Amino acid sequence: MRVLGIESSCDETAVAVYDQRLGLLAHQLHSQIAMHQAYGGVVPELASRDHVARLLPLVRTVLAASGSNRQSIDGVAYTAGPGLIGALLVGASFARSLAFAWGRPAVAVHHLEGHLLAPLLEAQRPALPFLALLVSGGHTQLVDVQALGRYRILGESLDDAAGEAFDKTAKLLGLPYPGGAALARLAEQGAAGRFTFPRPMLDRPGLDFSFSGLKTAALVALAGRAPDPQMRADVALAFEEAVVETLAEKARRALATTAHRRLVVAGGVAANRRLRERLAVVARASGAQLYFPRAEFCTDNGAMIALAGCLRLAAGVSQGLAMGARAHWVLGELTAVGDEATGD
Ligand code: KG4
Ligand code: ZN
Repeated sequence: MRVLGIESSCDETAVAVYDQRLGLLAHQLHSQIAMHQAYGGVVPELASRDHVARLLPLVRTVLAASGSNRQSIDGVAYTAGPGLIGALLVGASFARSLAFAWGRPAVAVHHLEGHLLAPLLEAQRPALPFLALLVSGGHTQLVDVQALGRYRILGESLDDAAGEAFDKTAKLLGLPYPGGAALARLAEQGAAGRFTFPRPMLDRPGLDFSFSGLKTAALVALAGRAPDPQMRADVALAFEEAVVETLAEKARRALATTAHRRLVVAGGVAANRRLRERLAVVARASGAQLYFPRAEFCTDNGAMIALAGCLRLAAGVSQGLAMGARAHWVLGELTAVGDEATGD
């Protein structure tokens, strides 16, 4: 079984071909970051228009690179939500129409399911079930991944997502959008101990998060002073440490309260080196194994959508001719479709 996957939920147009037997055959991505940077964030209307322009050339390139044609593709998967509705509709209508023209099934994929399953693209891949820390630009959740489609949310952010907090604090530090990776680079130059930021929600039971206070802590640290480069780096480090320690401690508690022996970290912030290092320590101390996708499959990509679509299609799930997309779509609403997604 071979599936073409299309991701267009935000500011990346991404396409991939995943083969159930052979694995990932090709993937490509066009990032709109340079286009949106002038505005300091994603402009939804521009995002939709750019997806329209990029999709068809990308699909042609990826089909050729994967050695596939319409005969060898068994289904077309697309991100149906959550995300920017205009951007989602471009990918959904494109993918649904392509599947119709090819006489193949179309598969709607939840963007966060894509992120959760992205570690299955790696040679070192987790078997299901596992505990996942999902940290993206829009979501921060601890998820009990029981089976394909059966996801129980154990805790989540009550306000800003971890990636959003990185981006907002990066902006305060004068870094261009999206600032997460740039902030992490700046933090490398930081001196530990100059600032200590709060560790939100660690004093409370439960597995929820709150990150909106950290940008205030950064504002207070910077207040009234012209930040020299060293100070900016020190603030970046204090912020990063606060986020990483909070995420790692909640992951430790979630491992302790569930029987899971596999911890997955996924989503854009999972590309953060300090977070991975800290989670590796937590996993080892908890007798668990840590899994994560390579950095390019932590952030938005088509490979995770092609993979999730392939697993769903193999389990017999596909959509009718009516095409749909949802800006808001809660991961916990999905229903189990089987246990096919097992690794080693
Ligand atoms: O998963 P993703 O590509 O998009 C969403 O579905 O939201 O995540 C993007 C987020 C952005 O907030 C970005 O700043 C953050 O991931 N990010 C990072 C790093 N690389 C990307 N945050 C911290 N450290 C990084 N190295
Ligand atoms: Zn994402």
